[in-house]
Amino acid sequence: MRDKKDKAMYNTYHIKDMMFVSNCKKNFLKITVCCVFGVVGLVVMILPHVLMSSQVVHHRRHTRYATDLKYILFWSHKKHKSSIPTLSRLTEFQSGQRTFIDQKCRYINCYITYNKDILKNDEDFDAVVFDLNTVAKMDVNFLNLTRSPDQLYIFRSLETSDKYPLCEHDLEHFFNWTWTYKLTSDIPQPFLSIYNSVNRTIIGPTINMQWTTTVKKTRKYANKIRQKKRAVAWILTKCKLKSRHEDFIREFRYELSGYNYTLDIYGPCSAKKCPGGSALKCYKMVEKEYFFQIVVEEYLTEDYVTEVMVGAMLHLAIPIVLGPSDYSNFLPPGSYINAQSFSMPKLGALVDYLIRNPDMYEYFFDWKKYYYYKVRPRSHVCDLCQKLNEFNGTSVTRRHFRHWWDPDYKDECQRLRLFKLFNTET
Ligand SMILES: *[C@@H]1O[C@H](CO)[C@@H](O)[C@H](O)[C@H]1NC(C)=O
Ligand SMILES: *[C@@H]1O[C@H](CO)[C@@H](O)[C@H](O)[C@H]1NC(C)=O
Ligand SMILES: *[C@@H]1O[C@H](CO)[C@@H](O)[C@H](O)[C@H]1NC(C)=O
Ligand SMILES: *[C@@H]1O[C@H](CO)[C@@H](O)[C@H](O)[C@H]1NC(C)=O
Ligand SMILES: *[C@@H]1O[C@H](CO)[C@@H](O)[C@H](O)[C@H]1NC(C)=O
Repeated sequence: MRDKKDKAMYNTYHIKDMMFVSNCKKNFLKITVCCVFGVVGLVVMILPHVLMSSQVVHHRRHTRYATDLKYILFWSHKKHKSSIPTLSRLTEFQSGQRTFIDQKCRYINCYITYNKDILKNDEDFDAVVFDLNTVAKMDVNFLNLTRSPDQLYIFRSLETSDKYPLCEHDLEHFFNWTWTYKLTSDIPQPFLSIYNSVNRTIIGPTINMQWTTTVKKTRKYANKIRQKKRAVAWILTKCKLKSRHEDFIREFRYELSGYNYTLDIYGPCSAKKCPGGSALKCYKMVEKEYFFQIVVEEYLTEDYVTEVMVGAMLHLAIPIVLGPSDYSNFLPPGSYINAQSFSMPKLGALVDYLIRNPDMYEYFFDWKKYYYYKVRPRSHVCDLCQKLNEFNGTSVTRRHFRHWWDPDYKDECQRLRLFKLFNTET
């Protein structure tokens, strides 16, 4: 194993600014010790500048503050040399330790950088994070980065595999961990959090989510439900629709018209506009007026359930979902209708049945006694630091990475190859 103390020694100058916010955690004894060291540390850090030679300072700091700070390099071909990273879509995290403190993480002893020169050797980073957009363009054989077997190479993406299938064979056993919206990631980062409403802890989404099955009818919302008059609404935030979605809406609308129901679309480019122009007011209006709301995900990829779901779950109108085929880890059973599980005539009949039977309709909101939803910020980074702290050093590699990322990668990559071939010939 690499000697962490050595690393800390020649990095004293880089990390001195946040040294005293070290690894206070686990138990009170440690916290007390940490805090005492912290105060002593402040004094020791300021005094030597005035009083002592730098040699002594160096030694003092080393012996007192050889903390287990985890260095995380966010790799980017373009940015790895500049010391002032530009915050862009790809570099959504602030450099340094600050972001872990700001997010009130359980572990804050992590340090993010976009500049690999901050440490003397590439091998000294505990983890190197590769973003999907970088991975799609890079050749791992020409990476200007020395790798140590103790390091963790992490694949990161909040974008779907639909955007980039990864084709390079060398990626197959390249990453140790994955950090994506997929629940099967080593560090899963879904777009939403499900809370237990009794003890207010995050309980999901996770793989094999266990929901409570003690569903009883609730009368709590009966009054609100009685006031509903219209059938189905869809709140849109943009103008252009995917053709697949357009087809679904056209067919569904036709089916509903057979029952004299309407499907109303609210959005920037539709005839109906959200009251006050805000999404929140729109949801309130839908909750008051409509029995159902359509919740469509941009992609049908597994686990791709985004923030739009939270808006729907916070309001009282049954979501008709069109997204990944399996929602069972994201939504309680009996809280939603998955459009993909029904033929159009059955979907129409179900909508009609529930509108005419408020007693049955009420069952769909019983889950609200047990759970509530919140958006998980895309910049959430605590889980990365926690995972690094809990890592026990046993070697791990994500096997069959390409297939894990996109089960259809073979077909997709074939298609991509042909596309490139034709594009260069013309
Ligand atoms: C590789 O990294 C070193 C150190 O950061 C840098 O000096 C060098 O220019 C890089 N080489 C290439 C080809 O990017
Ligand atoms: C909160 O409640 C859930 C379900 O009852 C339980 O599994 C979980 O351990 C509880 N968490 C805490 C911190 O008490
Ligand atoms: C259809 O609905 C409209 C208003 O929602 C109503 O005025 C009309 O009478 C209904 N038609 C039938 C045949 O029920
Ligand atoms: C290390 O952690 C992995 C995964 O969390 C676990 O499977 C393994 O048994 C652990 N090894 C040791 C030596 O604790
Ligand atoms: C990470 O994966 C590489 C490549 O498979 C492997 O050689 C290395 O031991 C792994 N490192 C850790 C810390 O698991």
